[in-house]
Amino acid sequence: MSKHPSRTVYCQNAIPWLKEHAPLEGCSVVTSMPDISGLSHLSLDEWKEWFVEAALLCLEATPDDGVTIFYQTDIKVDGTWVDKGYLCHRAAERSGAHMLWHKIVCRKPIDTPSFGRPGYTHLLCYSRGVRDRVEQSYADVFSTQGEMTWSRAMGRASCEFACKYILSHTKTRTVVDPFCGYGTMLAVANERGLDAIGVEMGKKRAQKARTLFFNEEREPSESRASSTLVAADD
Ligand SMILES: C[S@@+](CC[C@H](N)C(=O)[O-])C[C@H]1O[C@@H](n2cnc3c(N)ncnc32)[C@H](O)[C@@H]1O
Repeated sequence: MSKHPSRTVYCQNAIPWLKEHAPLEGCSVVTSMPDISGLSHLSLDEWKEWFVEAALLCLEATPDDGVTIFYQTDIKVDGTWVDKGYLCHRAAERSGAHMLWHKIVCRKPIDTPSFGRPGYTHLLCYSRGVRDRVEQSYADVFSTQGEMTWSRAMGRASCEFACKYILSHTKTRTVVDPFCGYGTMLAVANERGLDAIGVEMGKKRAQKARTLFFNEEREPSESRASSTLVAADD
């Protein structure tokens, strides 16, 4: 594992990026794909199709010895439920990957009524080659998301868990987040000694993803990953 883990953030569309860079040798993919609210030019059916295709590209880009982890929160549209876990399963079946686990991350205390968005998030893990091991078992329900860098962020506690799992169950030592937003996953991966690659279409978010660090109090030489922002034209 590198002493000074690296971070590269590509400011570009993840769809062609994933096609171009697959297979991501030595990498696991951990991401939270955009909701319909972030792709408002699409109809619900078009977004569902886009979502499954994007999930499929993430799964196909992950090498057999890596894992693909999705952090997704369901939505309600016109009084009907859209289960993003189901959409991920559809992509996984097409890719030939098996589900290793399905965790529930509480966004609100249990028994709290909710209407539009559920009180939980799905944390889903798939792989073609990796298998879960009995000697290392973890909770199925996480009581908290942990720190959130913004409203659409991956909860930091889930990022921590994803890193722990990757380190204990795979030989991959680079985490790729193709929809990295502010870079929560990248920052946590670097903190855990893993190299990180992010892709983000929004310029400001990509810039933020390059510079996000949680443990500012540590000596820069110990905590700072070497960090690169690659513009879309590069
Ligand atoms: C759910 S958010 C990810 C949040 C991120 N995990 C974090 O903790 O900040 C989805 C991100 O995907 C980005 N996005 C949407 N479409 C994209 C695309 N085609 N390629 C790359 N990024 C995209 C959005 O700008 C948004 O920042």
